[in-house]
Amino acid sequence: MINTLKSYKELSSTVADIVEYQIQEQPLSKLIFPTGSTPLGMYKELVSRELDWSDVITFNLDEYLMNPDHPYSYHSFMRKNLFDRINIYPDHYHFPYRPTLSFEDTMYANKGIDLCILGIGSNGHIAFNEPGSSFKSKTRVVDLSEQTIQDNSKYFDSIDDVPKQAITMGLGTIMESKKIILMANGNHKLNILNVAMNGEVTEDVPASILQKHKNVEVYYCD
Ligand code: PGA
Repeated sequence: MINTLKSYKELSSTVADIVEYQIQEQPLSKLIFPTGSTPLGMYKELVSRELDWSDVITFNLDEYLMNPDHPYSYHSFMRKNLFDRINIYPDHYHFPYRPTLSFEDTMYANKGIDLCILGIGSNGHIAFNEPGSSFKSKTRVVDLSEQTIQDNSKYFDSIDDVPKQAITMGLGTIMESKKIILMANGNHKLNILNVAMNGEVTEDVPASILQKHKNVEVYYCD
């Protein structure tokens, strides 16, 4: 079911409440975090709440195949919007890296993910699992679709600067999370959200795999 909220502010604070509850109930929580424009308000909320992140461990969904110190990398995004503004230990946050199997090992060594926050791309991708990705996929290097390169060009000086490849957590990896929250902002996401959550479960719409998860909540605002 898609929960429709009144405003972006409410979307941000609702998901921030879920993260806050998780961290307070279980200080040793393991979380998966997204990047993109949608979670920005949630991160702002979380920073303002001054929570204790000292035992929290995080994994990001994906990263461009680029220098992590580049200002447009997802490392830089997360440091700027969250990690450098809370008391998380730098060796407690992780991004997908090569070899990708070692990244999966690090996740498993941490004994499973308690809460995963996701966005959805306009083509139905989650993380950088583009249409056609296997539902069993694990962390790997992927080519970005033309649609994703186009969508993400707004964050770069020109479309030619958008990396063509990324390292992404797989759909199989994401589905092992105990609880998943999908957040979507804007009318342009409503159609794909409906297709993903109410249509056929198919690898052509990667987010449709979420229909098979037992503990998913979807929040939308336009
Ligand atoms: P957005 O990206 O939040 O910038 O719309 C979401 C996504 O591509 O997963």
